[in-house]
Amino acid sequence: MIKEDILKLKTEKNAIILAHYYTIPEVQEIADFVGDSLALAKKATETDADIILFAGVHFMAETAKILNPDKKVLIPDLEAGCSLADSCPAEEFRTFLKDYPDHMVLSYINCSAAVKTLSDIIVTSGNALKIVQSLPQDTKIVFAPDRNLGAYINHETGREMVLWDGACHVHDQLQAEQVLVLKQQHPEAVVIAHPECKGVVLALADFVGSTAAMLNFVTKSTCNSFIVATETGILHEMKKQNPEKQFYVVNSAESCSCNDCEYMKRNNLGNIYNALLSEEPELILDDETVKLAKGSIEKMLSLS
Ligand code: 13P
Ligand code: SF4
Repeated sequence: MIKEDILKLKTEKNAIILAHYYTIPEVQEIADFVGDSLALAKKATETDADIILFAGVHFMAETAKILNPDKKVLIPDLEAGCSLADSCPAEEFRTFLKDYPDHMVLSYINCSAAVKTLSDIIVTSGNALKIVQSLPQDTKIVFAPDRNLGAYINHETGREMVLWDGACHVHDQLQAEQVLVLKQQHPEAVVIAHPECKGVVLALADFVGSTAAMLNFVTKSTCNSFIVATETGILHEMKKQNPEKQFYVVNSAESCSCNDCEYMKRNNLGNIYNALLSEEPELILDDETVKLAKGSIEKMLSLS
């Protein structure tokens, strides 16, 4: 019933629902498009809808607004934040950058609009390696806010980017010991991991990539079982596309669901319906922030 009401409102208001892979299955099923951060940012530039309802987290809705300042961007719950974005307060980052005046500033898209205004290029987990590799090897770079993704890029490219000391509370707590236990139990399984995980976890992975890249890898793979080191929401689409394959989720402890991102899980059919009906909460950004943040995102899109 609520699904039909959402679809009706969506048509009446010429709205589009964009959802991230970490949202709950019901939300992914109602969405017009489900993707990783990069695909969602690209999709936001392509839509002719009047309203974008972003079922994800705050920085993703901000990105959609920066790319579409004339459209109404709705976020079902303004409290859907991101611990990684929160780990880099803009004013502290501005002060930090004073020590690196000759460095280019690369920021992972999981940061606030204010941090984006201080950045030269935005990257996502889907294009970070490619973008860094496209810069001359001697380019001095500050990378923020994710120390794990930054260290992974340094490792893969042989660079020495200066890293901001931030992390995602969901990925950072995944333990290498858990991966080893699962590998022992399922020696045939292939390990896939999101680059926001710690280096010790990534070192055990057969494949490291964004949510969309992991999904693609699993779907194309001839292997039948996978040890998955990321947020649990991705399993919905992975199982849907690969019903015959087995998935074993890496956790920080035997019996916890600490790799659910509580921010992503704040999106549900009830608050999506209410947001479409009342056209609130609306994501508002001032013109100056939009103007200053846009260049770094557009630079990313041109390099992707
Ligand atoms: P993706 O870039 O894979 O969408 O990841 C976004 C995110 O929030 C990971 O925690
Ligand atoms: Fe942020 Fe981590 Fe949640 Fe992704 S999983 S939205 S990085 S808190």
